[in-house]
Amino acid sequence: MLTAERTASGAEMPDRIADDLVHTITEMGHHDVLPRGACIEALRMVQERYGWICDRHLKQVADILGMSLADIDGVATYFNLLFRKPVGKNVIMLCDSVSCWVMGVDGVREKLCRKLGVSMGQTTQDGEFTLLPIVCLGHCDHAPAMMIGKDLYGPVRPEDIDAIIDERRGAAS
Ligand code: FES
Repeated sequence: MLTAERTASGAEMPDRIADDLVHTITEMGHHDVLPRGACIEALRMVQERYGWICDRHLKQVADILGMSLADIDGVATYFNLLFRKPVGKNVIMLCDSVSCWVMGVDGVREKLCRKLGVSMGQTTQDGEFTLLPIVCLGHCDHAPAMMIGKDLYGPVRPEDIDAIIDERRGAAS
């Protein structure tokens, strides 16, 4: 039996993106000379609405912007802030670039994995958190750094993790 795809908030993923998004993306396509210029923002908007970008929505955005599926998939896959697989309500992006490594991100990663009961790249059983690596967040002077949703944290120490995760879990419920 096929399991229905879910948005990040747990709702059933709609077959098609909402009409208001279709309208906005269509308008963006008219104003951008190159569809590639519009597609990153269009995909970001779809992701903001549904949590991640499923195959059906990717195809729909490609059709609206007159792009090939291969072309838009290449863009979506290249940018690691665009999610092509289901994610939890909170996406934790942990920087694994050099400044954060030097400043002790390994200990933060271990504590995060232990606290959440997941490995890097996985989502918690309750669907609350997805833990992903990311290249430099541009927050190197506050290394080790991580981002949850749109919020930057740093410098983060292993002993900070319990409070940060508990606070995010409380805020999401
Ligand atoms: S190296 Fe981690 S934020 Fe730049």
